[in-house]
Amino acid sequence: MTTISVGMLGCGTVGTGVLTLLNREASQVAESLKVHFSVKKIAVKHPDKKRTLNFNENVQFTGQIENVTTDPSIQIIIEVMGTLEQAYQAIYQAITNGKSVITANKELIALRGPQLTELARQNHVDLYYEASVGGGIPILRVLSDSLITDQINGLTGIVNGTSNYVLSAMKNEHSSYEKSLKQAQKLGYAEANPTNDVEGIDAAYKLAILSQLAFGHAINLKQLNRCGIQRITTGEINGAAALGLTLKPAVVARKKEQTLFTLVGPVAVTKQHPLANINGVENSILVTSAALGTTSYTGPGAGSEPTANSIMSDLLTVTHHLLANQSGISFNAPSNKISEHSLLDLSLRYFVVIKKVNETNFFREKAKYFEKIINIDHTYFCVTTVLTKDQRSELGSNCKDSHFYPLLK
Ligand code: HSE
Repeated sequence: MTTISVGMLGCGTVGTGVLTLLNREASQVAESLKVHFSVKKIAVKHPDKKRTLNFNENVQFTGQIENVTTDPSIQIIIEVMGTLEQAYQAIYQAITNGKSVITANKELIALRGPQLTELARQNHVDLYYEASVGGGIPILRVLSDSLITDQINGLTGIVNGTSNYVLSAMKNEHSSYEKSLKQAQKLGYAEANPTNDVEGIDAAYKLAILSQLAFGHAINLKQLNRCGIQRITTGEINGAAALGLTLKPAVVARKKEQTLFTLVGPVAVTKQHPLANINGVENSILVTSAALGTTSYTGPGAGSEPTANSIMSDLLTVTHHLLANQSGISFNAPSNKISEHSLLDLSLRYFVVIKKVNETNFFREKAKYFEKIINIDHTYFCVTTVLTKDQRSELGSNCKDSHFYPLLK
């Protein structure tokens, strides 16, 4: 039996999930891999706090991150504490001290992933981050291994469990926005700062990571067309439903020749669309590629054990590399030079909510732009024909207080 020493940074929702799975699966891992994982040290903010952990072994809690990242006996570091700068410094220190790293930190990987991957390669250690996108869905391994020789030309997904939970509860349980968000926080789905969830920031980080592996392109997060779910009202959800549509918090990336068209924000989907029935904390990523066509990857997008399971799969990969003396590996990513534009630059259909029109004859004059129009409580809910960017702007400038949601079939 080989013992692998592990150090952890953070012990919140995901960290406790990792300890639970390490404990529960210990005998299976020992039997099949002849490996025992020994968690030696965990760095936390409050090392003296009383904790109820499903973990049998004695673990040393410390308030000092460097006690873990510089401990010569620790071989693998699992980072589940979040934050950007502190996590970056900690991982930098761990890598330069010869430790392989597993992280669930999407902000860090979205912003500094390529830099840390190169650092890990130079230091002959692994860097893996399956848990950073899609919670328990093994989507990064699919992109990095199974689809690496295929040409990916599109990604459409729901990658923020909290936003999907909130919109699903508003539609299916007629729950309020505030109550649904509180519940998502209580269930451990939301970020420490839930603004990152509802404003699409968390989803943008995840799209950036997906894009690195799918297209070899680092998305410019400052220029990304990003919108949150905060302004969606129950009235809009009901208006969409009356037209057979559902509002979903989506990420979209479509590659056309050497340009990537991207969007993070709510979209309307028809009943037939594969994302229409992805509810609650579930995430789903649809990948369109040249050889495979469209494939979909669905599962729990957040939560303690699902996310911990992705960390466990990274842990086994890193362990295999350690045992074979092959460390220095990360996910495979293609390398590409592509430019980036907003998805809204393409011609699209829209679900539009219009509170007030400027001219009385507006709908008669613009009839060619609309496929369906209904009026509920003095608000118009419409489905447009395919509109160019200019046509959409022209319509928008004629209606006060209108919301346009791209409509995906
Ligand atoms: N806050 C995230 C979500 C957690 O709701 O999807 C998983 O990354």
